[in-house]
Amino acid sequence: MSLSALRHNCRRARELSGPDVAVMAVVKADAYGHGAVPAARAFLDAGAQALGVSSVAEAVELRRAGLAGALLVLGGAFPGEEETVVAQDLAVALWDADQARALAGAARTAGRQVAVHLKVDTGMTRLGLDLADVSSFAALVRGLGTLRVAGVFSHFASADAVETAAARAQTGRFVGAVEALVAAGLRPPEVHLANSAAVLAAPEARFTMVRPGIMLYGYSPAPHLAARAAVRPAMRLRTRVARAHDTTVRDAPGNRRSGGHCCREAERGAARLPGQARRRRLPRSQERWRPRGGCTVIALRSFALVTLPPPAGEAERDRGPEQTVPGDARNERCWTASETEHK
Ligand SMILES: Cc1ncc(COP(=O)(O)O)c(C=O)c1O
Repeated sequence: MSLSALRHNCRRARELSGPDVAVMAVVKADAYGHGAVPAARAFLDAGAQALGVSSVAEAVELRRAGLAGALLVLGGAFPGEEETVVAQDLAVALWDADQARALAGAARTAGRQVAVHLKVDTGMTRLGLDLADVSSFAALVRGLGTLRVAGVFSHFASADAVETAAARAQTGRFVGAVEALVAAGLRPPEVHLANSAAVLAAPEARFTMVRPGIMLYGYSPAPHLAARAAVRPAMRLRTRVARAHDTTVRDAPGNRRSGGHCCREAERGAARLPGQARRRRLPRSQERWRPRGGCTVIALRSFALVTLPPPAGEAERDRGPEQTVPGDARNERCWTASETEHK
């Protein structure tokens, strides 16, 4: 892992967002497989003002590693996690009335306030308040007394394509929701919608804060945004060739399936990831990882494979020798999958 690449990418997100916009670095899913603790530290070093994780468990992991500061659980808290949220001083996404009451109760018992970011569903139909319920929910939250509304946010339905009419419509609905909150007497200090693609291509979605994920790890959300992103892949894998064969002979023409994913005709050979890495579930960014050099990393729940093109001028790879999958790591700091798993 290259910490300097992670820092560089975070600084790019800050530059692109502008001086008045805060960056919440998204380090969910073990920082997209890069190791949540070292990645989070690198992003805070590079000026990120907050961190975003999926779950209370992920947030606790960061707190245990000594990371203080603003930490938002983007997926909200489950019933039973309220005391941990209060004790660990976490901010949580909130859209549910029962959860609001439970959090407020836990905060009251502890004699504290708990920070919440109201999540509005503007089109993803995953998590969040329906637009029609925003005003009444604001009234409920105000009435509970121990919830501090630190933010309001939403997420684009199509994370990598934000220059579309559908995405602009989502932004419009989000603005409507924020106005409804203000009319109901709530003015959340942080207003955020933009993920990486919007940092790069949708300035109207930046508001007071942005939540980049994928670009921080060095990948552009879409090929046409790569030049603007100017980010550097932070991960490099070393692996050994498990099988060398020519998939074009057996299966051409067209694509074939491999563990539910398509292998392109041109990809030949497969190299197994080291044992620890194999057990890890790598998230979206690495499921089909295409670093410079044109290989593909296929890393799923049950197995992890790298398909490598043959070296230039050769028909296929030799089985056995260690191969390096290029990234941007320059050996300045390495950690292994087992280190990030057991930290
Ligand atoms: C709520 C939320 N915000 C921001 C992000 C970061 O998105 P991206 O990786 O597209 O930048 C994610 C990632 O899944 C997310 O779930």
